[in-house]
Amino acid sequence: MTQDSISSSQTPRHVAIIMDGNGRWAQNRGLPRAVGHRKGVTALKNAVKFCKRRGIPILTVYAFSTENWQRPATEVRFLMELMKRTFSTELEELHREGARIRRIGDTKGLSDDILHMWNEAEARTADNASLLLNIAFNYGGRRDIVLACRQLAQLAAAGTLQAEDIDEDVIQNWTMTRHCPDPDLLIRTAGDMRVSNFLLWQIAYTELYVTDVLWPDFDDDTFAQALADYAKRQRRFGRLNDTDSE
Ligand code: IPE
Ligand code: IPE
Ligand code: MG
Repeated sequence: MTQDSISSSQTPRHVAIIMDGNGRWAQNRGLPRAVGHRKGVTALKNAVKFCKRRGIPILTVYAFSTENWQRPATEVRFLMELMKRTFSTELEELHREGARIRRIGDTKGLSDDILHMWNEAEARTADNASLLLNIAFNYGGRRDIVLACRQLAQLAAAGTLQAEDIDEDVIQNWTMTRHCPDPDLLIRTAGDMRVSNFLLWQIAYTELYVTDVLWPDFDDDTFAQALADYAKRQRRFGRLNDTDSE
């Protein structure tokens, strides 16, 4: 399917991706899992370029979950180092591409040097407008909701918020994605049919697409297939289609 066959109204404004399968990609080749993670960075760079070309303004990717700390310490350490190395080698290119980087996730548990690196990346790219790239790092959907609740409880305790004024918009305004609309399309690679604690609040009406392709193999064709599938979906949001009779 070519770009021209999808009209702009059917192009998602916000795509979220669970980048899964790096370990399996490496294990299938008898290689250490780390090699899969490194390949995954290349796939991410490619996905960023693809979004820009296809006019998708917001991309949110799941890079490290609040549960991923439970992996062996060597893998966790490698992923933290990989993140740092990726920023030192790729930040300028992402900047040139016009990507604005935003970290979403808890700061608790991240080392000072990692936090410093994120702050630098966000500041360096703050004025870019081609693509908003949210990177979920130490992110959990439940943590997102818990932290929002804590903020609301503090406002209520201080008397600046009344319980009856809490509605969906107020909660949304305290989530980690308050700066952007909910995803239109959520893609998960590597075949597992679950959301693994990603964006729980935000995906209430997001279209889901799961591909067996492992993240390091995720290329333009796979991305285009997901978009073509999305373009055929009827998003009803609980309503009936315009053509449905009573
Ligand atoms: C996704 O790949 C990357 C992270 C979770 C950091 P995995 O490492 O989960 O790969 P599989 O699922 O074991 O193949
Ligand atoms: C989800 O993948 C997290 C990321 C892609 C960062 P996992 O590999 O951690 O998810 P599970 O364990 O298969 O649910
Ligand atoms: Mg996995």
